[in-house]
Amino acid sequence: MDVATSVLPTAAPSSSRNSGTMDALVIQGGRPLSGRVAISGAKNAALPVMAATLLAPGVHRLRNCPQLVDTRTFGKVLEKLGAKVTFQKNECVIDTTGVNSVEAPYELVKTMRASIYVLGPLLARFGAARVSLPGGCAWGPRPVNLHLTGLQAMGAQLDIDHGYITGKDVKLHGAHFNFDVVSVGATAQLLMAATLADGVTVLENVAIEPDITVLGEVLAQCGAKIEGLGTRRVTVTGVKELRPIDTAIIADRIEAGTFAAAAAMTGGTITLEQVIPDHFEASLRKLEESGCTVVREVDEVTITGPSRPRAVDVTTMVFPGFPTDMQAQMMAVASIANGTSVITDTIYLDRFTHVPELARMGANIELKGNVAVVKGVERLSGAPVMATDLRASAALALAALVAEGETKVSRIYHLDRGYENFDQKLRDLGARVERIRE
Ligand code: UD1
Repeated sequence: MDVATSVLPTAAPSSSRNSGTMDALVIQGGRPLSGRVAISGAKNAALPVMAATLLAPGVHRLRNCPQLVDTRTFGKVLEKLGAKVTFQKNECVIDTTGVNSVEAPYELVKTMRASIYVLGPLLARFGAARVSLPGGCAWGPRPVNLHLTGLQAMGAQLDIDHGYITGKDVKLHGAHFNFDVVSVGATAQLLMAATLADGVTVLENVAIEPDITVLGEVLAQCGAKIEGLGTRRVTVTGVKELRPIDTAIIADRIEAGTFAAAAAMTGGTITLEQVIPDHFEASLRKLEESGCTVVREVDEVTITGPSRPRAVDVTTMVFPGFPTDMQAQMMAVASIANGTSVITDTIYLDRFTHVPELARMGANIELKGNVAVVKGVERLSGAPVMATDLRASAALALAALVAEGETKVSRIYHLDRGYENFDQKLRDLGARVERIRE
């Protein structure tokens, strides 16, 4: 299908929607944020489920699917393969009946690494795939070796040539695969591939992030035979075919954590609606340690920030540990805390592009390798800053909410990749935020 005939929304209907262009956020700091905010469906849960639609021909329905640059880009990847993709509000309908291509081109993959998720499903259902290698990102190389060696263990002969991963005449079979490191991406990849492989696949040392467990549950609802979900050892018995997916995407635990951090920093009270508190318990515990009061209910959490947060040490870990996707936001909290915090990222050792930008706003951060020593300051000052990745952008926006005066956060297309209506949600909570076109 020609992308030009795509039915996906490409432009933002209003200034508060995620347009993905060179927009900036202009934020006047100094107001406590208070009120209720509905947390959107999780990007990191939606993308693998979108890829999984390739496993079964038919019409798939994803409810509570966030409308983001990344989900739209993934829709384009699927359309390129011959699927029909429509978004209506937060329902994404994907018809994979007409999939007639197995090529995910560089032009799309380079804009979003998660495109690599189509590799396993394409090999499993069509026995062939040609998918561009994603390359690195703003905070360093992010390898895909486990995706490849895992699929190879399942019998896929893969050639890497001219920047593409190519597999032909592949007949996937069951295998025993042990992940050297816990990888969310590679676990999703092999889980999907194994559902249609011939025989039994045992995956050891798998990721148990909620996005992965839920992906497994969704596949099981469609007829996949999977045991051990939520543990480090998952067994998949291949089936001949799967039924189309009909599911609701789970709440975004990182978006929830980001708004919780906003309450912590501004001293307000924010109720996070439609969340699964267990999924971001590690973030909530750290915020409690920093002086926040947290009230957990079945599907909502109310968090009240202290007059000034206390310093906390944070080390990112695989789930249920503190997520790397909250490291930057927690550093924003630490930057104004009373005392010195030590923040270590063990998942991605150089994911610190927010450090020099926070420093431009007056933060006192010393970075040595993957360890940041943050001496909390009493006040940050507004400044023009630039975000270079998704969570770094969120951290800068948080810092801007408490900074004296005006902060312009440029290049927020990164934010738009992962936060649905972020600036509108902030305004609804009382922040003075304007989206401008640069
Ligand atoms: C990681 C996070 C995920 C987060 C995402 C985006 C973890 C375990 N994963 O997922 O929660 O949403 O970043 O910020 O916290 N690795 C390899 N070879 C591979 C794949 C990964 O060596 O083929 C390594 C990575 O370099 C990294 C670790 O494994 O050190 C975790 O990678 P993985 O979970 O796959 O990364 P993402 O899917 O990007």
